[in-house]
Amino acid sequence: MALIAIRADFLHCLSDPGIDGSNAAAIEHVRDGMLLIRDGRIERLGPAVTLLPLLGPDVAVHDRRGSLVVPGFVDTHVHFPQVDVIASHGSQLLDWLERFTFPEERRFAETSHAQQTAEFFLDRLLENGTTTASVFCTVHPGSVDAFFCAAEARGLLMVAGKCLMDRHAPEGLCDTADGGIADSRTLIERWHGRARNRYSITVRFAVTSTPEQLALAGQLAADYPTVHLQSHVAENRDEVAWVGRLFPQRRSYLDVYDHYGLLRERAVYAHCIWLDDADRARLSATGTAVSFCPTSNLFIGSGLYDLRQGLAAGNRIGVGTDVGGGTGYSMLRTLGEAYKVQQLLGGSLHPAFSLYLATLGGARSLCLDDRIGNFLPGRDADFAVLDPGATPLLARRTALRDDPLDTFFALTTLADDRVVRETWARGVPVHRRLQTS
Ligand code: GUN
Ligand code: ZN
Repeated sequence: MALIAIRADFLHCLSDPGIDGSNAAAIEHVRDGMLLIRDGRIERLGPAVTLLPLLGPDVAVHDRRGSLVVPGFVDTHVHFPQVDVIASHGSQLLDWLERFTFPEERRFAETSHAQQTAEFFLDRLLENGTTTASVFCTVHPGSVDAFFCAAEARGLLMVAGKCLMDRHAPEGLCDTADGGIADSRTLIERWHGRARNRYSITVRFAVTSTPEQLALAGQLAADYPTVHLQSHVAENRDEVAWVGRLFPQRRSYLDVYDHYGLLRERAVYAHCIWLDDADRARLSATGTAVSFCPTSNLFIGSGLYDLRQGLAAGNRIGVGTDVGGGTGYSMLRTLGEAYKVQQLLGGSLHPAFSLYLATLGGARSLCLDDRIGNFLPGRDADFAVLDPGATPLLARRTALRDDPLDTFFALTTLADDRVVRETWARGVPVHRRLQTS
């Protein structure tokens, strides 16, 4: 396979920089660098002056000087069928699900609607530089087929699954304990490990699954150790109280999932706001990851997730946009909101750790860090080409200080999709921003 080369500035994480950025060796910045890609994988990253003389005349060099290239973002929690739920006014979780979300998800019984929405959703991820996401489909198996077909056609590494929900949802959105698991098994056999697709057993939340369905989901997870899991936990106080009434014998909301064998590596739980120390210790002991969803937590008024508590317990943590509870597909802007939440809690969030959360930290949450998350040799060549001067305000702000992490921080506060010039997956451009001037 032909070698290709990208010339730009590069910024990525070799390991965890710490929430205060104190582990500076975790961050690598290569000014006027060159990324060599062969057969969709990274061969080498180094200074352009060193690598250019080694390249034969046939190597295509993509000159992106002036841009900052970062690993493709990893959104660890998002719902593709909630494209039309975004920006729904005036309610908190349980009411929001009833009024806006469930009615919208019923439309995914229709295959053509699922297919069209999957394409629209992937366009939004790619225009924001996101190359991998952990995605909820609906209860309908056809929504999973539509999603993986669309992702595979674009060469993307996506994690997704069918919602399991056999109670407390309207007609047309409920499966049965047995039927939901049988459908999930069929979908695992069809999609998990095909091309770059990864299946995730998707219990919507403890409210919408009977104990029978949760037990069967735990057995399914045991049958398929390489499959992912995803759900919601401890997002909203009324939700937590309801789970307490539904499962009075369990110590806590998280303990419901623990009891049914649903905590493990490759499992990601969104929100985790109303957990206690014992819960956080269980997350660490089982290798279960947290998806911090700041825009959603603010928008539907759920609460403030304190990164320091999760980190003190040794939890794996990534960031999720959680659209349609969340307010946009931009991981950069989601990091900007994460920063503000930590400010409100009296903590802080260093830009190095923000970069980590959205790239290597997300990849580690999904146990995919041997494939994605940074620019080490052998990793898949998934990356975003960012233009720090994309808007007049950004151009002025980022010209001020010659510091790549300060530039990244400015992007998390000020960026929109104009900043993402290109997004590449497995060494192929999958999004190019149209030039408007
Ligand atoms: N809890 C159960 N379902 C959902 C959902 O669709 N979005 C959010 N934010 N929380 C949930
Ligand atoms: Zn969610």
